[in-house]
Amino acid sequence: MYKQKLDPIKLSLIDRAITLAPEIKSSADLGACWGVDGGYSRYVLEEHKLEKAVIVDQHITSATQEWTSHQPKAKPVTGLFGTDSTLEKVGDVDVVFFFDVLLHQVAPDWNEVLKMWAPKTKYFLIHNPMWTVGSETLRFPDYGFEWFKANVVYQHEGRLKEWFANLDKFDLEQNKPLKDVHNFWQFGITHQDMITTLDRLGFDCVFSKYLKSRSTKPWIKNYGYLFKKR
Ligand SMILES: C[S@@+](CC[C@H](N)C(=O)[O-])C[C@H]1O[C@@H](n2cnc3c(N)ncnc32)[C@H](O)[C@@H]1O
Repeated sequence: MYKQKLDPIKLSLIDRAITLAPEIKSSADLGACWGVDGGYSRYVLEEHKLEKAVIVDQHITSATQEWTSHQPKAKPVTGLFGTDSTLEKVGDVDVVFFFDVLLHQVAPDWNEVLKMWAPKTKYFLIHNPMWTVGSETLRFPDYGFEWFKANVVYQHEGRLKEWFANLDKFDLEQNKPLKDVHNFWQFGITHQDMITTLDRLGFDCVFSKYLKSRSTKPWIKNYGYLFKKR
């Protein structure tokens, strides 16, 4: 039942990663809850028999709380994953999942978040919409509302407009200006930048795979990656 909410492409990524790296016994899924209630962690426990799955999110949903309360191998952690206290609560794991979250990370930025988590893990499994126009990684809100609307994926125009009108206001919960919150698309990361960033952190790319283009903005292409610490 819970699997109905999960993306089969992400499940295939998990399957492929664990087939290639059967030594993986524990995971941390960063940004695990919205829309999926920690389901990818449940999948690795039930289908791949991992020994521990840590579920990290700013908001642990009630459905996540419900199933994890019956599953002693699951550990929900409420927190922002760019903070030292969250890193401490999670501890060391074999693999860290970043599924559709790196593009949202600012202060610390996506590459700084990877740097923070690199000492904690042997593998990174990443699913991310990648920017394929030019060779530079872009910070989307720097280009203004109209450009964003024309070039980036967004859910709701009214919400986007309100965000742009209030970029300098402060978000107390995330402790940063609204411009930097993780609720909007922040970075267009290029494939080359992803590979180079992980290489500098001491991680080799085991596989990278083009998965699909976004229907309304086909220059944004979902990719999956498995990186292994050297
Ligand atoms: C786009 S959803 C992705 C959900 C899921 N990983 C998936 O692939 O379907 C982003 C989730 O990550 C959480 N999130 C994003 N950035 C975060 C951060 N820095 N700290 C804690 N949670 C974060 C949000 O609360 C939300 O639950």
